[in-house]
Amino acid sequence: MNNIKKLSSVLLTACISGWAMAEVSDEQIAAGKAIAFDRNAGNCLSCHMIPEGELPGNVGPPLIQMKLRFPDRSVLRAQVWDAAVRNPNTVMPPYGRHSILTEAEIDRVIDFILTI
Ligand code: HEC
Repeated sequence: MNNIKKLSSVLLTACISGWAMAEVSDEQIAAGKAIAFDRNAGNCLSCHMIPEGELPGNVGPPLIQMKLRFPDRSVLRAQVWDAAVRNPNTVMPPYGRHSILTEAEIDRVIDFILTI
C-alpha cells in the first residue's frame, strides 16, 4: 500500500515537472531573442529578416510564421543545429555541430523563433 502511494506521488511529480518543462516562459523567449539578435552570438539577423530585428540581411529566407511552417520542433532544431544536413552547400553556420551556440542556447533560439 505504502509503495503504491509512493509510486503515485513519484508519477504525479514527474507529470507536473514534465508540464513545467513543456511550458515556455517569457524569460526563455526573451533570452532566445537576445541570442538570435546578438551580433556576437546567433547573429541570425545578418542573413534573415526577423520581425523587430534591425538591419537584417537577405541571404536566407525571412523567419516568419515558423510554427505554421515547422509544426515539428525537432525539424526546426535540426535546421539550426546543422543546416548542412538538409543542404550540403548552405552558407548557414552549423550552430550545434560547430558548437557556435550551446545546446541550451539553441533551445532558447528555437523557443523564440517559434513565436514569430
Ligand atoms: C550566413 C547566413 C546565415 C546565418 C547567419 C543564419 N542563417 Fe539560417 N539560413 C541561411 C540560408 C541561406 C538558408 C536557406 C536554406 C539553406 O541554405 O540551407 C537558411 C535557412 C534557415 C531556416 C529554414 C527556413 C525555411 O524557411 O526553410 C531557418 C529556420 C534558419 N535558417 C534559422 C536560422 C537561425 C535561427 C539563425 C541564427 C541562430 C540563422 N538561421 C543564421 C543563412 C543563414
